[in-house]
Amino acid sequence: HANGLKAGKTRNIIEKMDESGKNCVIFYGSQTGTAEDYASRLAKEGKSRFGLDTMVADLEDYDYANLDVIPENKVVMFVLATYGEGEPTDNAVDFYEFITAEDVSLSESRDTPLDNLNYVAFGLGNNTYEHYNSMVRNVDKALQTLGAHRIGAAGEGDDGAGTMEEDFLAWKDPMWAALAKKMGLEEREAQYEPIFGIVEREGLTKDSPEVYLGEPNKMHLEGSAKGPFNAHNPYIAPIAESRELFSVKDRNCLHMEVDISGSNLSYQTGDHIAIWPTNAGQEVDYLLDILDLTEKRDTVISIRALEPTAKVPFPTPTTYDAIVRYHLEICAPISRQFLATLAAFAPDEASKAEMTKLGGDKDYFHDKISKYDYNIAGVLRIVGGGQKWSNIPFSAFIEGLTKLQPRYYSISSSSLVQPKKISITAIVENQVIPGRTDPFQGVATNYLLALKEKQNGEPNPKPFGLTYDICGPRNKYDGIHVPVHVRHSNFKLPSDPSKPIIMIGPGTGVAPFRGFVQERAKQAETGETVGRTILFFGCRKRGEDFMYESEWEERKQVLGDSFEMITAFSREGPKKVYVQHRLKERAQEINELLEKKAYIYVCGDAANMAREVNTVLAQIIAEQRGIPETKAEEIVKNMRSANQYQEDVWS
Ligand code: 2AM
Repeated sequence: HANGLKAGKTRNIIEKMDESGKNCVIFYGSQTGTAEDYASRLAKEGKSRFGLDTMVADLEDYDYANLDVIPENKVVMFVLATYGEGEPTDNAVDFYEFITAEDVSLSESRDTPLDNLNYVAFGLGNNTYEHYNSMVRNVDKALQTLGAHRIGAAGEGDDGAGTMEEDFLAWKDPMWAALAKKMGLEEREAQYEPIFGIVEREGLTKDSPEVYLGEPNKMHLEGSAKGPFNAHNPYIAPIAESRELFSVKDRNCLHMEVDISGSNLSYQTGDHIAIWPTNAGQEVDYLLDILDLTEKRDTVISIRALEPTAKVPFPTPTTYDAIVRYHLEICAPISRQFLATLAAFAPDEASKAEMTKLGGDKDYFHDKISKYDYNIAGVLRIVGGGQKWSNIPFSAFIEGLTKLQPRYYSISSSSLVQPKKISITAIVENQVIPGRTDPFQGVATNYLLALKEKQNGEPNPKPFGLTYDICGPRNKYDGIHVPVHVRHSNFKLPSDPSKPIIMIGPGTGVAPFRGFVQERAKQAETGETVGRTILFFGCRKRGEDFMYESEWEERKQVLGDSFEMITAFSREGPKKVYVQHRLKERAQEINELLEKKAYIYVCGDAANMAREVNTVLAQIIAEQRGIPETKAEEIVKNMRSANQYQEDVWS
């Protein structure tokens, strides 16, 4: 494993549990941090409610050949997210391959090699994707086949329906009951027990060279950052160019060119770039204020794991300000369970009762909090009526909030055309929520907007304009650098450019197709035969949000008739026109192309657009070929498994 930070630690889970006195391990397969977060919550709950000796473990940190000799009095939990098109998360790939292998290579061979293993399983998925929760389903099936004993049901959380948190809460109580019965555990009154201890460091100030101010690791602190650049280690990339793509004032769409020539990073057309954001200054101030930490914001603290198996999620010594600004998702929706934990530290009895009610009553919580997407500071302010919550141990935030995660964007350039410069196309998220005074503002897109404004010397004109510490820790980034890494994707052009392609990408869904068309134009220029290239694009109005309008014209000059752009402007006429309507108008041609094995690509909104496109394609195939729709749906499914139909979608 490339991650040298973990060198020297045992990869033997039994040894690890023995040496730290644990009887319950919670493995997580996590991409964006939610599964990891749920794993930590299970660990805490198991400990505080049932006195289990729990530990959380990253699936990539251990080996699995000895799962068959884990003692029966221990329990193994799996919290497994399904990523993209039914894939395991990056950290779970090895485990997944191991456990689903034809011939699982366990240390002893028995008929039912895992009959010693008592396990619990919860999956995180999204029902708008084809392979809903396939990770937990397949792992559960594999474990059953090997004779392992599951305790409780295999839970499935659905991000697509927006019920992940409630699915988790509904699953875990019966699971705990079953587990308590199986292991003979007694429930006790839950009490907050910190996992992390915080020590204020008198001798240090925020200017001391060993104090971290948001640097993700030691190399960055010492100013000697070097590759490999990855999800543990970003490259601080210069922004070569940034500009606005929309012609309207009230919405922003950014085009940004990130220069990776100073690094060993590379990308391929269709890959994703991860942006490591920073929280907005206003949000940082707001949270520190409600916690009564404003005066102490620059106090240097060290954080120590009180549990031998817990990992402090960021480097220390650091400051309260740096933790809140660079390391925690302070703007994300919060969980009911977290509110219940905080109730004990309320500033008065009324707030305590209110927090307890919010924590316990799903509908009440929805009506008061989650409907408005309030973040943690918002909730504390509303519940406490503006009083400071100075009794909350800061460790509760480190344990209860997710780590600030990089955000992934579909790269909008071609690596053939510009191998060392990555384009990003991003609509700035500012969503008005009825009943809430300030808009919900996306963390990373507003951060990118601030970078663009800084680079171009523009004022920040928005009424709710956010300010960011865009120069980064110790002014190292000068406002025109951004921390990034690249993530490989399977969303790829056919290797033979003469193959026809059909692309469907409304809104920022067009991002990867800008790269695809750039690439095809370059191939045509260098004398290759380029097949038919059709792009369905949709936006509100031609004169408002038609991004890259002039560029498409330029590509057309090069690609000629083989390239066609078909637009759907949804708000120009009395009736909405969407890409899938246009697709239907071209039914005959689409069907012919598909019969000629054209590749079809869909990018953008998963919940509605991508689903409807899928349905329309099946309808087109049914009508044009005179076959029943069920048959046509089958054909579409097969196109997906053969990678003839590829999606890069998000919700
Ligand atoms: P609308 O906002 O006017 O409804 C990019 O966001 C474009 O996608 C917009 O024109 C938007 O239209 C359109 N859009 C919204 N919902 C869609 C759906 N379910 N399918 C396809 N396009 C959609």
